[in-house]
Amino acid sequence: MLRTLSFVILNFSLSVFATEGPAVPHKILLSSRVAPIGKSLKRRQLSPANVPLSDFFLGTDLQWFGNISEVGTPPQNVTIAFDTGSSTLEFASTLCSTCTNQPRFNSSASSTFVDGGSEITIAFATGVGVTPVIGYNTELTLRNATDTVTVGGLASPDVPLYLITNQTADFDIDPFSGIQGMSAQPEGFFAALIDSGLPPLFSMYFTPLAVGNAELTIGGIDESKFTSELTYASQTEDAGDNWQLCSPGISVNGKTNSVLDVPRTIVFDSGTSNVVFPTATAEAIYSFISPHITPNPAENGTYGIACDLIPTLPAIIDIAFTSQDGTPFNLTIPSSELSVGPFADNTSLCQTLVNSFENYTIVGGSLLKHYYSVWDVGNQRMGFASNGV
Ligand SMILES: *[C@@H]1O[C@H](CO)[C@@H](O)[C@H](O)[C@H]1NC(C)=O
Ligand SMILES: *[C@@H]1O[C@H](CO)[C@@H](O)[C@H](O)[C@H]1NC(C)=O
Ligand SMILES: *[C@@H]1O[C@H](CO)[C@@H](O)[C@H](O)[C@H]1NC(C)=O
Ligand SMILES: *[C@@H]1O[C@H](CO)[C@@H](O)[C@H](O)[C@H]1NC(C)=O
Ligand SMILES: *[C@@H]1O[C@H](CO)[C@@H](O)[C@H](O)[C@H]1NC(C)=O
Ligand SMILES: *[C@@H]1O[C@H](CO)[C@@H](O)[C@H](O)[C@H]1NC(C)=O
Ligand SMILES: *[C@@H]1O[C@H](CO)[C@@H](O)[C@H](O)[C@H]1NC(C)=O
Ligand SMILES: *[C@@H]1O[C@H](CO)[C@@H](O)[C@H](O)[C@H]1NC(C)=O
Ligand SMILES: *[C@@H]1O[C@H](CO)[C@@H](O)[C@H](O)[C@H]1NC(C)=O
Repeated sequence: MLRTLSFVILNFSLSVFATEGPAVPHKILLSSRVAPIGKSLKRRQLSPANVPLSDFFLGTDLQWFGNISEVGTPPQNVTIAFDTGSSTLEFASTLCSTCTNQPRFNSSASSTFVDGGSEITIAFATGVGVTPVIGYNTELTLRNATDTVTVGGLASPDVPLYLITNQTADFDIDPFSGIQGMSAQPEGFFAALIDSGLPPLFSMYFTPLAVGNAELTIGGIDESKFTSELTYASQTEDAGDNWQLCSPGISVNGKTNSVLDVPRTIVFDSGTSNVVFPTATAEAIYSFISPHITPNPAENGTYGIACDLIPTLPAIIDIAFTSQDGTPFNLTIPSSELSVGPFADNTSLCQTLVNSFENYTIVGGSLLKHYYSVWDVGNQRMGFASNGV
């Protein structure tokens, strides 16, 4: 999710969503490729597991979420968004009286739950859909703990996690009850699985709602989900927790200029749907799309245009990268992503994809849903292939 503040505790951040009512998740049925594996198989090579994902759609595709099928003993289902922009696991609990819409994990009912006894409150900014990008009025209170966590049939004991014990109302509408961080330095269940012999990578097949069949593969690559070769690019040396690549330049509708045609680091965040760039970059991109795209002063960091103008606008954003063998390649956000949907305060004004926020260069779901992506922790590289969408 959108990382916003350096003072956010836990190196962790979250997003909230438009408050227009409950989203209707698109249910996807897909069976796991492998049989569940128990803890006794420690040290054996673990096989990859596929986790079917649903699309949180609210006018536009926002985030992809799935079940951590079991937390605790006996197991309780917890539905979470898989977020490459954060690193911790947190979800709603029965200790949270303000978590009214989400399923809540009952820690009293788990014999393997260990309460850490420490509570923190974090503030965070928004980062998906038509909600404001800037501002961090939303708060979560978290309590630390450990418990057994199973994802896609792969179990890890004593995984560090956080129970949400209080939240502001805007967090309550999510169709999932928590977030699993999938940062480039694995933590929690994924780190535990790697220690037990799972190959240190995961792959994401994030598709638009109309396509469905979205999937996370933990510990492997699902070759059935793409046709072209995978192209790999190395993480920047200073990536740390981030998934980030160096881009030599950006083009829009085949054109570039002195603001766009410069090297920059691009962060890949599966928990963010919009694109976030510094103001000068955002406005340079819009200059090649339409002079009618202007900032919406009601919500700092957002831009908009009359909704009825959008269908005719070409808005192809090519972000250049260099593969590990030195070959240039583009990752492309097509024109169909330009509109994020109408603003709540003026429904004939549509928000456009790129938000401005100094010091951030983030791409998310609007790019990832056009590629099969491999997040290779072991080799600190990312792979992309056409997913045919
Ligand atoms: C999670 O599991 C529940 C059943 O326990 C199911 O109803 C739901 O559709 C699953 N969610 C996803 C995103 O797969
Ligand atoms: C959790 O969800 C999975 C997938 O929907 C289902 O097979 C399993 O029975 C559920 N487990 C519990 C404890 O509800
Ligand atoms: C949580 O589980 C405990 C132990 O099974 C039970 O007594 C309690 O009623 C449950 N709380 C909720 C809110 O379901
Ligand atoms: C919870 O946090 C406290 C304070 O940082 C720490 O001492 C404790 O070990 C943590 N417990 C768990 C279970 O993570
Ligand atoms: C929960 O958070 C709200 C602010 O969002 C605060 O007003 C309230 O006092 C908190 N409740 C508890 C029990 O901490
Ligand atoms: C990337 O896109 C730009 C702008 O459309 C184009 O000029 C360039 O040839 C593309 N690069 C590759 C490797 O396709
Ligand atoms: C937008 O940002 C400016 C400058 O930081 C601030 O003065 C203004 O109040 C903000 N407007 C809104 C609607 O948040
Ligand atoms: C709403 O947006 C439309 C399209 O940009 C604009 O023509 C109209 O003046 C706006 N209405 C208000 C009340 O700001
Ligand atoms: C961006 O970074 C510069 C230099 O580190 C800093 O001075 C500035 O306050 C930052 N701006 C924001 C909006 O965080």
